[in-house]
Amino acid sequence: MSEYDALIEAAKRARDNAHAKFSNFKVGAALHTPSGKIFSGCNVENATYGLTVCAERVAIFKAISEGERKFDAIAVVTDTDTLTPPCGACRQLIWEFCGDIPVVLANLQGKTEPIRMSQLFPKPFDSSNL
Ligand code: THU
Repeated sequence: MSEYDALIEAAKRARDNAHAKFSNFKVGAALHTPSGKIFSGCNVENATYGLTVCAERVAIFKAISEGERKFDAIAVVTDTDTLTPPCGACRQLIWEFCGDIPVVLANLQGKTEPIRMSQLFPKPFDSSNL
C-alpha cells in the first residue's frame, strides 16, 4: 500500500485506452490535485507519428481545460521492467503546470518509484527566465 495507489490505478485504467497502434507502447498517466481530484490520460498516436501526444500531456491538458490549476503528483504507468520516465517535452510541461511534484513511475507488475521533478528536470527553462 502506498499513498499513490489510487493514482497508479487511475493511470493503469487510462493506459487501457491508449491509442498506440504505431508503437504498440501503451502509456497511462494520472494527475492528482490537492483537493483529491484525478485527471487521467493515455498516449494518442496517429499516422503522422510526429503529432502523437503523450499520456502525461493529455492528462495535463484535460485538467487545465477543466479549470484545474494546482497539482501535487503525477503517475506514469507502462508495461515495462524498467520504469518509464516522462519524455523531454512532457518534463517541460509538467514543470510549467505542476512545478516540483513527485512523478510516480510504475509498471503493471506493481513496481513503483517516486522521483521529484527537480531530479528529472534540474535546470528548467520557465517564466523565471523571461
Ligand atoms: N509516450 C508517452 O505517452 N509518455 C512517455 O512518458 C513516453 C512516451 C508515448 C509516446 C508514443 O505514443 C509512445 O509512448 C512511444 O514513444
